[in-house]
Amino acid sequence: MFETSFSHFLPNDIQAKPAIIFLVKDNVTQPHICNLYFLFTFAKIWIIGIVFNKQKSKRRIEKMANRISLNATSYHGAGAISEVVTEINNNGFKKAFVASDPDLIKFGVTGKVTGLLDAAKIPYEIYSDIKPNPTIENVKNGVEAFKKSGADCIVAIGGGSSMDTSKAIGIIITNPEFEDVRSLEGVAPTKNPCVPIIAVPTTAGTAAEVTINYVITDVEKERKFVCVDTHDMPIVAVVDPEMMSSMPKGLTAATGMDALTHAIEGYTTRAAWEMTDMFHLEAIRLISQNLRDAVENKKSGREGMALGQYIAGMGFSNVGLGIDHAMAHTLSAHYDTPHGVACAMFLPISMEFNREYTGERLREVARAMGVEGVDNMTQEEYRDAAIAAVKKLSEDVGIPTTLDKIKEEDLDTLATDALNDACYPGNPREATKEQVIEMFRMLMA
Ligand SMILES: NC(=O)c1ccc[n+]([C@@H]2O[C@H](COP(=O)([O-])OP(=O)(O)OC[C@H]3O[C@@H](n4cnc5c(N)ncnc54)[C@H](O)[C@@H]3O)[C@@H](O)[C@H]2O)c1
Ligand SMILES: [Zn+2]
Repeated sequence: MFETSFSHFLPNDIQAKPAIIFLVKDNVTQPHICNLYFLFTFAKIWIIGIVFNKQKSKRRIEKMANRISLNATSYHGAGAISEVVTEINNNGFKKAFVASDPDLIKFGVTGKVTGLLDAAKIPYEIYSDIKPNPTIENVKNGVEAFKKSGADCIVAIGGGSSMDTSKAIGIIITNPEFEDVRSLEGVAPTKNPCVPIIAVPTTAGTAAEVTINYVITDVEKERKFVCVDTHDMPIVAVVDPEMMSSMPKGLTAATGMDALTHAIEGYTTRAAWEMTDMFHLEAIRLISQNLRDAVENKKSGREGMALGQYIAGMGFSNVGLGIDHAMAHTLSAHYDTPHGVACAMFLPISMEFNREYTGERLREVARAMGVEGVDNMTQEEYRDAAIAAVKKLSEDVGIPTTLDKIKEEDLDTLATDALNDACYPGNPREATKEQVIEMFRMLMA
């Protein structure tokens, strides 16, 4: 058995306990391998420096370099969607596969972009068998539809669900050996970039337009699984706040709090480093300043959130998240809870759980959220202040604090699943199953 210690390459100000992952030589269990792969990917080029201590058979992981993966091109601002046409023409694409969900089509949101394609006489075909928390079935049907379409690019129009389904379809089309999307869980060794995707987010939350992840639900096994692959990065992101203005209050609040969770978890995750810190702090600032106004559908609020959520994605996609997302994925897999609501409900709970393992970072979170006087506060005070600011924002935008679907008899499975989620290894503090059960219990009415 080898002990793998991550603690020595943590940012100096994170007082994390060493994370121990036990690997049984030549007999590595699947979840552990998966977790380890995730750390490599999120931390980017982490090389295993196998340092054998003759007596103790210890091996350490050395961090050799950080990697940042982003869109080649992104457009930001009101009216940006006209660039979809420019990009299709400049890239010489002949036909678009438009992936969007049924509600967006019904409410005319998808039509804002397809109207431009019509005007520019660009042929396209619409695929809309996509549900929130998209399923394996949504991906399978999408792959078949893409094959029949004769398209050479995907225009993903929607929230994380449409964009994630598009990524999975695009990856399977160009890497047919991974026909079963389950085989892409974790870091898949795909060889080819996916079908070129132009991503147009309609929520200000997931930032899937700039992340290297997609999340699919296995309905049969009641689990969500995360696939991480730089080959799925959309070639172009078109982040137009006007595409988000039709979001109702509740959806704006939930997706916005998802973005805040990305920024705070990304800032306190194990692999955080200077460049991602820069993204995350700016994202926290923009989201805290603009979410209330976005919920009121003010133009400036929509603009700030469109940008803030994107910047959060530039960060967390490259370093990973933590236990909040691990528990949120589990909640959504079992009860179909909207992703943003799940993340938001757990945010103050997970921050409280991690507080002793975040060094001085919650002072910067509090400062970015507009708390005054943080430099004169004790460590306990600024940690309290950061958590209080999150709770206040959550309350102001109407996030619920309980979920009555959770049953006492589900708690054991929920905790086990959360600890096996791909996001958990990034958490600065290790958790026992009992501690995770307690955190789920806090949501019970
Ligand atoms: N790829 C990533 O990096 C990443 C990150 C976080 C979350 N996710 C995943 O993304 C999914 C959640 O995505 P989401 O929160 O963006 O929501 P979503 O895509 O699931 O959409 C939720 C609902 O909102 C509606 N909607 C979206 N935009 C709208 C608009 N402008 N006006 C009116 N209605 C609108 C949709 O029609 C849908 O019914 C989850 O499956 C989650 O796991 C992915
Ligand atoms: Zn999220």
